[in-house]
Amino acid sequence: ALRGSFVPKAQKANQKSQYGLQPVASYKVTILGAAGGIGQPLALLIKMSPLVSALNLYDIANVKGVAADLSHCNTPSQVQDFTGASELGNCLKGVNVVVIPAGVPRKPGMTRDDLFNINANIVKTLVEAVADNCPDAFIHIISNPVNSTVPIAAEVLKQKGVYDPKKLFGVTTLDVVRANTFVAQKKNLKLIDVDVPVVGGHAGITILPLLSKTKPSVNFTNEEVEQLTVRIQNAGTEVVEAKAGAGSATLSMAYAAARFVESSLRALDGDGDVYECSFVQSDLTDLPFFASRIKLGRKGIETLIPSDLSGLSEYEEKALEALKPELKASIEKGIAFVQKQP
Ligand code: NAD
Ligand code: LMR
Repeated sequence: ALRGSFVPKAQKANQKSQYGLQPVASYKVTILGAAGGIGQPLALLIKMSPLVSALNLYDIANVKGVAADLSHCNTPSQVQDFTGASELGNCLKGVNVVVIPAGVPRKPGMTRDDLFNINANIVKTLVEAVADNCPDAFIHIISNPVNSTVPIAAEVLKQKGVYDPKKLFGVTTLDVVRANTFVAQKKNLKLIDVDVPVVGGHAGITILPLLSKTKPSVNFTNEEVEQLTVRIQNAGTEVVEAKAGAGSATLSMAYAAARFVESSLRALDGDGDVYECSFVQSDLTDLPFFASRIKLGRKGIETLIPSDLSGLSEYEEKALEALKPELKASIEKGIAFVQKQP
């Protein structure tokens, strides 16, 4: 079966359900930051899923109009809007998947870590509410810097006594989507067939595409490996520069996040063949969090997939060692942020 393929599975489900007009399952999804650049197109894509019965949209402003607009689409899910802290709890009660794209995006010249001061607080507050209202939900963290915001979320959940490491995910699907696109373009392959695992983290050199593990098996020259790796690592910056101050990737991100949501819902629904890459608590390396392929099941992560990390090329081995200090520092910064609060 195709690994992590959002579109084909969704199409299959749509065919069963006459183009999404009949629900085939009844999962509840909440988006926190739903009126933003990612939140809006992500809400649209999730509204198209026949696996969803309720779509709750939360933001600090402008979410009423987004919900009114989306609610006119004749797909099964009921859309509801929630604005501001007083409505946060209600938008989380009883939901299966919470997606968090709330926070500020980069402008040219910034690193993802430059967003830490604002986004760390936003993620902390939102995850506290998740812990209080839907501690069993799958939590998808999109807000940057993911390498720190996921450890922040883990610490908050621990403090609340509800941390389940199998249900906390840093969304790195966009790195896989980009790797698949760029490799297919470079090697003239059918897009649908290409699958490149991307491991490590989600910033600069911590993004490590394992090109030697590309499926179908492909031969790359050393120059191609170098060029593709750097392009995948800098793809976020490529978009930030092209948008020239108007934000970062939103549409491709929404596509990638929708794929990760759909995969999670299929796993919750009992599909036994769901694999994605994600930044999660991990024992595959000496770092406490690490992105790798994971197998998803009803209870969250069923297994981490260690095989991608054995038999790496020399280039990948070196890149893996080189990324560890930066990733470790970002993880520790996130943990310290929560632990040092009074
Ligand atoms: P945006 O500014 O367009 O939207 C962010 C939304 O968050 C806004 O609607 C804002 O009102 C809302 N928000 C702010 N504070 C909030 C709070 N306390 N509670 C709820 N909502 C709040 O930004 P965007 O382009 O949608 O990007 C959002 C985040 O996603 C950024 O941090 C960006 O770096 C990150 N991002 C991550 C990836 C990834 O691969 N993981 C990819 C792209 C962007
Ligand atoms: C991305 O990879 O596009 C996101 O992390 C946004 C960014 O700041 O590059």
